[in-house]
Amino acid sequence: MKIYYIGHSAFQIIGSKNILIDPFISGNPMAADLNGKPDLILVTHAHGDHLGDAVELSKRYNAPIVCMYDLAQHLRGAQTYGMNYGPAKINGVDFVMVPAWHSSSMNGQEIGNAAGYIVKIDGKTIYHAGDTFVFGDMALFSELYGPIDVALLPIGGYFTMGPIEAAKAVELLKPKIVIPMHYNTFPPIRQDPEKFREIVSDRTHVEILQPGEELDI
Ligand code: NI
Ligand code: MN
Repeated sequence: MKIYYIGHSAFQIIGSKNILIDPFISGNPMAADLNGKPDLILVTHAHGDHLGDAVELSKRYNAPIVCMYDLAQHLRGAQTYGMNYGPAKINGVDFVMVPAWHSSSMNGQEIGNAAGYIVKIDGKTIYHAGDTFVFGDMALFSELYGPIDVALLPIGGYFTMGPIEAAKAVELLKPKIVIPMHYNTFPPIRQDPEKFREIVSDRTHVEILQPGEELDI
């Protein structure tokens, strides 16, 4: 199976199912094309750079959207599973919606909480942190659901963790591979991923993907 980077926080996990996460494509200056038809769309929170084209893509590919219950109330015309932090199995995909320390809003209106996802598929465990600062309960994720094969962590700073905080997250999550995300899309989150690699190279393997690149796992 593979992990395909669309850009920003948008990824596809492509194995026995095609799982699309945070499909911010139109309006994203560094977005690559979709890789195959998604079976399920996971959205971490309501901000435009994460919800992105979820509703349109959901309708086009007949792929339901999973998101926080409060956000699902606002997504008209798409099939949604509005849930909250906890484990679920939808369309044959096992995953856990987990907390993230971040806000969530649309057009200035607060909408529910922000989340991350831990996806278990084809014997692999993949954690997408969403937008978040580092928090101690990340240690619970590795305790409960680990070993984590791949962690997708924001490193851009300003809205999320920067490299120092993400390095602490690596210590708590103990993933085999880390892929940095949520950097260089906009000026405030400019970041050199090689610096992040330097900080954590003794703890984990860092894969720096460009939009349109994929990693076999
Ligand atoms: Ni956000
Ligand atoms: Mn964001």
